Amino acid sequence: MKYLIAGNWKMNTERPRAVQLASEVVDACRTVEGVDIAVCPPSVNLDPVFSVVHGTNIKLGAQNMSPEDSGAFTGEISASMLLAVGCHYVILGHSERRQYFGESDDDVNGKVRQALANRLVPIVCVGENLEQRDAGSATRVVTNQLEGALKDVRISSGTELVVAYEPVWAIGTGRTASPDQAQDMHAHIRSLLKALLGDAANDVRILYGGSMKPANAAELLAQPDVNGGLIGGASLKADQFVEIAKAAATAA
Ligand code: PGA
Repeated sequence: MKYLIAGNWKMNTERPRAVQLASEVVDACRTVEGVDIAVCPPSVNLDPVFSVVHGTNIKLGAQNMSPEDSGAFTGEISASMLLAVGCHYVILGHSERRQYFGESDDDVNGKVRQALANRLVPIVCVGENLEQRDAGSATRVVTNQLEGALKDVRISSGTELVVAYEPVWAIGTGRTASPDQAQDMHAHIRSLLKALLGDAANDVRILYGGSMKPANAAELLAQPDVNGGLIGGASLKADQFVEIAKAAATAA
């Protein structure tokens, strides 16, 4: 399975910096082969960033999306709008959306179904917080989140779908899950996906997210069920991001 390295820029980069960072990423990643690479800028910068990455080996992703088609939903952005500015991926159910904006598994489910119906590729985020890990309930939390996000979702083999395991305690903290911790949860997610989606689960990429950086990327990507990374902080520096993409190319 081809690795996917996706940069989640979060609420960073005003337009000039977004364009500059995208250009740096394009230049740095030009020679990286055999890996899918994506950048996910803030929504107002999707359009200018698309102009930069269009026709290169970098794909565009959004960070959130409405489950509705159109209409009176002030502040929301629809799947068709994302498609129209060149998005291929959309991150859904990121822990920051769950934590700060109250997104529930049901909300995430509506968005996942809307993305798939519009042929956008969802990057569905799941992950436990520190309290839940310490209480020994990480597997249960991730199971509930994934079952909730994929409720009534049916996909055929070859349909692109991505899951990102992002332990909340490792996001932006500098703490990373150990390769074993990541592999254990990824293997669990893989078997859960098989139960939920059947054979189509074999094509689903499971990314690790949470302080992935050049220093730890290779050992995380070497795990059999780690199929790429969702990168926050390190995606804001083109040189670090490309090092991670190169680690994926080497691991492939
Ligand atoms: P981080 O963020 O790499 O800064 O930990 C990952 C994410 O939240 O997607």
